[in-house]
Amino acid sequence: MTDTILALQDVHKSFGEAKIIQNANLDVHRGERHAIIGPNGAGKSTLFHLCSGQFAPTSGKIVLNGKNIAGLKPAEVNRLGLARSFQITNIFPGVTVLENLRLAVMRKHNLQFVFWRSAARLKKVNQEVDDLLTKIRLTERAHSLASEMSYSEQRSLEIGMTLASDPQVILLDEPMAGMSQEETDYTSGLIREITDGRTLLIVEHDMSVVFSLAHRISVLVYGEIIATGTPEESAPMPA
Ligand SMILES: Nc1ncnc2c1ncn2[C@@H]1O[C@H](COP(=O)(O)OP(=O)(O)OP(=O)(O)O)[C@@H](O)[C@H]1O
Ligand SMILES: [Mg+2]
Repeated sequence: MTDTILALQDVHKSFGEAKIIQNANLDVHRGERHAIIGPNGAGKSTLFHLCSGQFAPTSGKIVLNGKNIAGLKPAEVNRLGLARSFQITNIFPGVTVLENLRLAVMRKHNLQFVFWRSAARLKKVNQEVDDLLTKIRLTERAHSLASEMSYSEQRSLEIGMTLASDPQVILLDEPMAGMSQEETDYTSGLIREITDGRTLLIVEHDMSVVFSLAHRISVLVYGEIIATGTPEESAPMPA
């Protein structure tokens, strides 16, 4: 039996009169990499905002590990095992790679407001930061300012910050936007590595990335999921 980790059930979201998400239904299987594709303005980012708690749905359920999370705050959803990146980069440009990651790890442990430190706690935080640096292949860049890094390195850092909470489900919104082919291939490999043993929901416009990365693909058009299938099922018929 397939195990669903995240489900959208009859989800609607309106902003005033504008119906942006309409009757969205989706089952994301535990352990899969699932891509959402669709035209600009279809509601893909809005769907992610609903899953991560940035927006509450107008109606419908969003079920994470069997629990309805609709209307919960982002921090609560994060604690329940879901983390996301934003379409727009969300890192602190004026501090180093290491400090960005340390802030994310401290946030996870609820330590960001703690002005005294125990050495043992600090050691644990530093160990987690080191592990994250290795995972996102930025150990050599630990002491560079985030603003001095290349665009794709900044995206890797952002992925690392998403990983800091050790989430079961990761949502990435167009992680390869604006990248060269080489950067896209690099980031695609990184995403494959860091999502091993987790569940990925990804919005991506680059179809070659979608087809090579995703186990299943859902198509969102005018706020409605009109089809879900494997890459083989989704591929256009040969001419
Ligand atoms: N906070 C908001 N208030 C009002 N309308 C909004 C809000 N957020 C998004 N929208 C509208 O919802 C629609 C869907 O936007 P969304 O950003 O989810 O699309 P998208 O599929 O992610 O597009 P893109 O591919 O360009 O990133 C758009 O028409 C947008 O103007
Ligand atoms: Mg978007």
